[in-house]
Amino acid sequence: MQFTKSISISSGKGGVGKSTLISNVAQYLSLQGKRVLLFDGDVGMGNLHILFGVNTDKSILNVIKENDSINDILTPVMPGVDLIPGGSGLVDINTLNPYERRNLIDAIDHLAQKYDYLLVDTAPGIAEHVLYLNAAVDHTVIVITSDPSSFADAYALIKILSLYHKVKKFSIVCNFTKDSSEGLLLFKRFSEVVHRFLNVGIDYLGSVPFENALRKNGLHRRLIMKERLSSSVIESIQDISVRILDERTEIKHSKGLQMLWSQVVGLA
Ligand SMILES: Nc1ncnc2c1ncn2[C@@H]1O[C@H](COP(=O)(O)OP(=O)(O)OP(=O)(O)O)[C@@H](O)[C@H]1O
Ligand SMILES: [Mg+2]
Repeated sequence: MQFTKSISISSGKGGVGKSTLISNVAQYLSLQGKRVLLFDGDVGMGNLHILFGVNTDKSILNVIKENDSINDILTPVMPGVDLIPGGSGLVDINTLNPYERRNLIDAIDHLAQKYDYLLVDTAPGIAEHVLYLNAAVDHTVIVITSDPSSFADAYALIKILSLYHKVKKFSIVCNFTKDSSEGLLLFKRFSEVVHRFLNVGIDYLGSVPFENALRKNGLHRRLIMKERLSSSVIESIQDISVRILDERTEIKHSKGLQMLWSQVVGLA
């Protein structure tokens, strides 16, 4: 039986390109015929719908707080890709009461098995719900840049996830690089530091070069594949997506999404 494969994307420092990367990977996977569910796990500050140029005033908060059906908030953003919007308004997923938690699990459970991939975008840093989301998925991707604080914060995130949340394998993407050799060098430096101090597996998914047009478009974000950007950016996204497709990561959660959400909101 085919289970949904779940992948999260996180970073120590904010603004390193997580949402840009994950939405473009979602697009690539859908073009390969995969059904993708995107969850904007940056609950309260979510902006994934903007990247797809879609308006929505609904979010996961409507399911949790107002008992809406998951289908009311599920937002198709392109053929093959549905989005669970994260919403705005600061709500901590950890403050939900047991009734609200149960609503959330039941709602998400109805989606299980309908998708090949669940891609979870997260807030940056080590907020508790970010740690839970990473602990719950099959595959954790961490984005780093050459900025020393991004490097150090990513190390801290991996340390906490490995020591307290049993995440033992991480895939790294280097963003804002000059070229692929700079990306590889950055990865090598980072993995050396991690291996020296932590007992975890680190592999390299690839790098994305800095693209001026992307930076300028910050306020009017669009999918990279749709823009006339340099082919090196498009190729780098494709390479990363292909590696994600090829990954032989073991599926940790034999019960699928129900298990994932149970872990996230702390209710079996
Ligand atoms: N390879 C790139 N080259 C240039 N700019 C990029 C690149 N990738 C992303 N950006 C830009 O960097 C900014 C931050 O990107 P994005 O919102 O994807 O980061 P994030 O990690 O999701 O941020 P946050 O931590 O706030 O959620 C955006 O303006 C985006 O267009
Ligand atoms: Mg983001």
